[in-house]
Amino acid sequence: MIKKAVIPAAGFGTRFLPATKAQPKEMLPIIDTPTIQYVVQECVDSGIEDILIISGKGKRSIEDHFDRNFELEARLQERSEESLYTQLRHIEDMANIHYIRQKELNGLGDAIYHARFHCGNEPFAVLLGDVVIDSVIPVTQQLIDAYDQYHQTIIAVETVPMEKVNRYGIVAGSRLNDRMMQLTDIVEKPAPDKAPSNRAVAGRYILTPEIFDAIAKTNRGKGNEIQLTDALRRILKHNGIIAAAIEGKRYDLGDKLDFLKTTVEFALKRKEFAVPFEAFLRETIQKLDDQKPL
Ligand code: UTP
Repeated sequence: MIKKAVIPAAGFGTRFLPATKAQPKEMLPIIDTPTIQYVVQECVDSGIEDILIISGKGKRSIEDHFDRNFELEARLQERSEESLYTQLRHIEDMANIHYIRQKELNGLGDAIYHARFHCGNEPFAVLLGDVVIDSVIPVTQQLIDAYDQYHQTIIAVETVPMEKVNRYGIVAGSRLNDRMMQLTDIVEKPAPDKAPSNRAVAGRYILTPEIFDAIAKTNRGKGNEIQLTDALRRILKHNGIIAAAIEGKRYDLGDKLDFLKTTVEFALKRKEFAVPFEAFLRETIQKLDDQKPL
């Protein structure tokens, strides 16, 4: 039974500068909803309501977002804005959210190490705070189901183009069935000619408490950071790790181009925008085809 989730959200977000100079990338909205709210919703939809967010310098707005705002609520009620009021109350009551600050940004492995007292001796889910996955069954639920079957560390993976493997943790292993692989290797951001496969770690994990000891023993790696990938590699030698192919579409909101694509796709799925936004896109493409100025 997985009851806790950890959402690392302390990173600098250098790929999204200057927007992330004074605001968290995890708070950048997909239309009107901050990225991290989608991530928290995925936990809740997977049956997890105890969430630890790894926070840090400049990340206070994340706490404010999930906190109550009595003045704003009162104002909305005065104006009979019932729908907005209900939305706000939903955000505040979504889950039992705790925070811990990562004072120095020493990498994802170090961020997760901050969860050791909160998670104790239980397996827990990890969801990167800047990754949203659109799926019918929440990906964390997919991983929990795999954990219930194998009782090993579970890593979500997806296939990426070979030329992009240097952006991700890449796994290799032996096939168990259509979706699962028993891991034999995992490397952080390999060059395409050194990559063991093109299966990339997709920002969702079920980790077991052994990870904390492994992180403590892990030296700084790529980017001079303590890499979760390196700690997982240690675990691989003693405990098994399963890679589970995700059923869903992954969006990396820490990347500007991916962010733009996400906004377009999500807008096309929103009832109130679908028709006018599609018309706008068609008009824009027509202009491009006609080589007219936009
Ligand atoms: P990223 O790899 O996207 O790192 O982290 P980053 O530093 O935030 O982004 P760039 O590469 O500089 O643009 C994945 C997730 O892990 C968190 C981030 O906040 C993000 O949600 N993270 C990363 C931490 O919590 N602490 C860290 O030390 C590093």
